[in-house]
Amino acid sequence: KKSVKDVEVRGKRVLVRVDFNVPLNEQGQITNDKRIQASLPTILYLVREGARVILASHLGRPKGQVNPKYSLAPVAEHLSEQLAQAVPFAKDCIGDAAMEAVSTLQDGEVLLLENVRFHAEEEKNDPAFAKELAGLAELFVNDAFGTAHRAHASTEGVTHYIPAVCGLLMQKEVDFMGNALERPERPFVAIIGGAKVSDKIGVIENLLEKVDALIIGGGMANTFLKAQGFNVGKSLLEEEKVELAKQLIEKAKAKGIELELPIDVVAALAFQADAPHRTVKVSEIGEDEMALDIGSASAEKFEARISTAKTVIWNGPMGVFEMEAFAKGTERVAQAVATCGGITIVGGGDSVAAVEKMKVADRMTHISTGGGASLEFLEGKVLPGVAALQDKE
Ligand code: 3PG
Repeated sequence: KKSVKDVEVRGKRVLVRVDFNVPLNEQGQITNDKRIQASLPTILYLVREGARVILASHLGRPKGQVNPKYSLAPVAEHLSEQLAQAVPFAKDCIGDAAMEAVSTLQDGEVLLLENVRFHAEEEKNDPAFAKELAGLAELFVNDAFGTAHRAHASTEGVTHYIPAVCGLLMQKEVDFMGNALERPERPFVAIIGGAKVSDKIGVIENLLEKVDALIIGGGMANTFLKAQGFNVGKSLLEEEKVELAKQLIEKAKAKGIELELPIDVVAALAFQADAPHRTVKVSEIGEDEMALDIGSASAEKFEARISTAKTVIWNGPMGVFEMEAFAKGTERVAQAVATCGGITIVGGGDSVAAVEKMKVADRMTHISTGGGASLEFLEGKVLPGVAALQDKE
């Protein structure tokens, strides 16, 4: 794709779609600014090159209504500290408020527009709304990888009206994940976890076409254990997916892919941080027990596999890592990924949180800013926000 570096930006009004969908606490303070940090390279590049930068984003799901709870105003403040320059804030992303703010912008200045989702037209990808947004600028830069799976007015619609290129974060995300999937250094090991199989079917199916080994942990592993004939007691189980799990196990076998499932689990009597628990073989899970983490023998097996990898993609935790008693499996996997020496890519909110908690984030090759977007990317789906951008000649 053509990037912001391939076009002339000096003196131009540039509309940059960023993903500033950051978590805020009750007081409206930003509790994690990773997505803002990740957008700085593109913004700073445009500032240095003398562009007039107009930032647009969504925050939360205000359902097309103006709602102060979802205002981007706190982000403008935070961003101005990060950039060490004032970041004016326009109270609306279209109309007079937006146009006036844009008209006073000088080269190298940065403006943030209010939440695009305060207009129902945004998510409907309404052409008139998209045209109005596009009308603020002469060039569109999409740097919102986290929202690239949405065909909305500010991600897809605007590209019909002004030239559209990708930002540096968008490019990095697509390059790292795209290269890992299409041209991995082998062995290529994927680690998939999280609560439900149903959320990750597409990912597993796509990865089975590409990896040398697939590690499965987390709540979703129970459905695979059941498919292997084990009794999983009261564990989270998707009964209707057991047949599919069987097919996936067969498919992996037929393709010669090592499918690594837990061989032991931490089984608890309740879904509670202080619940009595023990580590048992998967063949010995009691009727009244639920698996809340992988056991130490599984962790060891997974570590051994990860240590051989030249490329690792990790999405989803191995257990209920928010509870200390059930965090070990995820922590050991995080350590193993951090030290394996290969190219390591972490995507999805929970595994990213685990990596941050373990303080190994800076030892990963790439941590995706996308939740749903990185999942869809791993499923091999075309992301509309990316597809709409211009190709390099
Ligand atoms: C995300 O946080 O995954 C993106 O910002 C997209 O948000 P959405 O799921 O509300 O579209």
